[in-house]
Amino acid sequence: MVRINGERLLDDLRTLREFGRVGPGVVRQALSDVDIESRHWLVERMGEAGLDARIDGLGTVIGRSRSDGKALLVGSHTDTQPTGGWLDGAMGVMYGLELARAFREHEETRDFALDVASWIDEEGAFMGCLGSLAFCDMVEPESLADATGPGGARLGDVLREAGFEGRPWTRFEPGRYAGYLEAHIEQGPYLEEEEKRIGVVTSIVGIRSYQIAFKGEQNHAGTTPMPRRRDAATALIELAHRINRRFPERTGPKSVWTIGQIDVFPGAPSIVPGSAWMNVQFRDGEESRLDDLSALLHELVTEADAGGEVEVSIRRGNERVVAAAMDEGFQGHLARAAEVHAPGAWMRMPSAAGHDAQVIARCMPSAMLFVPSIDGISHAFEEDTAEEDVVLGCQVFADAAATILSEQRG
Ligand code: GLV
Ligand code: MN
Ligand code: MN
Repeated sequence: MVRINGERLLDDLRTLREFGRVGPGVVRQALSDVDIESRHWLVERMGEAGLDARIDGLGTVIGRSRSDGKALLVGSHTDTQPTGGWLDGAMGVMYGLELARAFREHEETRDFALDVASWIDEEGAFMGCLGSLAFCDMVEPESLADATGPGGARLGDVLREAGFEGRPWTRFEPGRYAGYLEAHIEQGPYLEEEEKRIGVVTSIVGIRSYQIAFKGEQNHAGTTPMPRRRDAATALIELAHRINRRFPERTGPKSVWTIGQIDVFPGAPSIVPGSAWMNVQFRDGEESRLDDLSALLHELVTEADAGGEVEVSIRRGNERVVAAAMDEGFQGHLARAAEVHAPGAWMRMPSAAGHDAQVIARCMPSAMLFVPSIDGISHAFEEDTAEEDVVLGCQVFADAAATILSEQRG
């Protein structure tokens, strides 16, 4: 069977971390200068692995196999959160690179067709899962040019400056693919709590987000009597509190919600805030539950607005990921490989984090493998995974990819 090279994999991961490294973590948002640099580096590494590699018109890096026959597409993302961990996404892309090399080194897998992708902007600097959505023909080019990202940068301008504008997008090609496999750190505590080393993902959560805006009246913090104030920040804090109190009426055991971003304008100690803004995100495996929570959020906004002093309005965020089930057949391949390399130390589990695999599942069979996250920490500089687990996961992933492709070849 195919054998991956664990040291080579870890070396590449460490090299990738240097692009945007801050302490143990990484700052490498999609299409930032350092992200673009890392994409050029990745194209070179893919080329050395025998892939026909390029950066597409949105920034996705795609390395295509030159072999005939059905291909397996593997990948993840190399962009990070504004302050992110070194493995979130990066590990899955480096697994793809290592598989491409290991397959070439083994007689029985040498001719297997394996394409590797680093999807642009999974983390949503401009639009969450942009690369995989474009792959599945789920974004209209017209809606993108004006999309804005960090610091208000326009996506169209950023792509032009990077030299990517006008290049074709990486698209699903009917007939080319057997399916898609993605490996990722778990980003939560369950594998560790259950003392397991591999997770076979059964399904991925749906995510909704809303931006809620508050418009009051800016005034002097000393001279404006309390009854006359139209304080946007106070209205925001009250609504946030009501959301936290009322959401449990409609959530399920695995629902989560987060107010992860708040801004108050102009943001000075001696000014009654004239406007404010917050983002509310919630997740669940059941789309119907997300519908219920959306309805409740709209009710709470209407009530807050009816108070009169501060206008409150709500707008849906541009995330487009819905809950998805992973392919049963591919889960079987991952489970059998896990049982060989980690007997009794693997489990099936849902993903509470979003992934490109949930988008790609809408155009072809897709599945995911997880390895444990130390203390369940992710989307933070402290994110980490034991090296032995990174290496073990890659070997399990390689075996599953090889058996999927050998089944395809009959
Ligand atoms: C993806 O990074 C997510 O927020 O789940
Ligand atoms: Mn992430
Ligand atoms: Mn990720």
